[in-house]
Amino acid sequence: MRPISLRSPAKLNLYLKVIGKRPDGYHELKTIFERIDLFDDIRLTATPSGRIRIVCDHPQVPKGPQNLVYKVAAMLKKDFGITQGVEVRIRKRIPVAAGLAGGSSNAATVLSGLNRLWRLGLDRNGLVDYACKVGSDVAFFLYDCPWGLGTGRGEVIRRLDLTVKLWHVLVVPKVRMLTPKVYGAMNLKLTKFGDDVSILTRYLGQNDVRKVGSLLFNDLEAPIALLKPNLLKIKENIQALDVAGTAFSGSGPSIFSVVESKKKADRIAAILKRRYSQVFVVRTL
Ligand code: C5P
Repeated sequence: MRPISLRSPAKLNLYLKVIGKRPDGYHELKTIFERIDLFDDIRLTATPSGRIRIVCDHPQVPKGPQNLVYKVAAMLKKDFGITQGVEVRIRKRIPVAAGLAGGSSNAATVLSGLNRLWRLGLDRNGLVDYACKVGSDVAFFLYDCPWGLGTGRGEVIRRLDLTVKLWHVLVVPKVRMLTPKVYGAMNLKLTKFGDDVSILTRYLGQNDVRKVGSLLFNDLEAPIALLKPNLLKIKENIQALDVAGTAFSGSGPSIFSVVESKKKADRIAAILKRRYSQVFVVRTL
């Protein structure tokens, strides 16, 4: 079989409500996922060696069993008795460990890709079962949709039937955030009661960028600010520019804004690039 080339996109969370802690240690969530046009390129090549080989020139990407892509390939290989190996080439553009789910997206892309390459015949439910074994954010990328509502630990996905395409300025501060630490630093008693997700979804449906911006929400902001107070200052500095709203994505440190047009996004990005090294203009994909 010929090599398969795939795009692996990043996500933002426009809304992330932490509902409570579960007996399994994860947190119950309600979140709006948005797929964005910042993506890694992945190339899968079947090899006769039987080995799983990850090739990536990014120094922070593990090449062995800690990599979610490796985990996915190893599980499928074992469960389906595949004797072939695979070489996975990853060209990284999505910042690593940034709250953008780059690693989870790569895992989902490789899961669907190996389903084709190794002709496994898994349907989406079968793929989702594997996705949940490697991470909470993986399942969203198996749904071919730009918008999804995630519940459970984030892995139960309902497509949101929205056509809106938003422009964002994305700033990725060079700070390391460990997701378990961020969840661990949450004080569940302090999370806001109430649920604005249906109002935000309605504004998304109406393409009302200003109102969407005003309702961006992330319960992980408090623990992020507790662990890295400087990130909150960066967020406030961005919010002071002419943007409709600003929020952290996932457990950070990525901070994104919603803006009305590409022109405005480019103008704001030019200002932010003088202060921060990783600034992107991105759009709903
Ligand atoms: O599922 P994933 O491996 O991405 O999660 C990383 C860590 O983030 C988990 O081990 C857990 O500490 C925390 N987490 C959580 N609740 C979620 C998702 C993640 O507590 N819904």
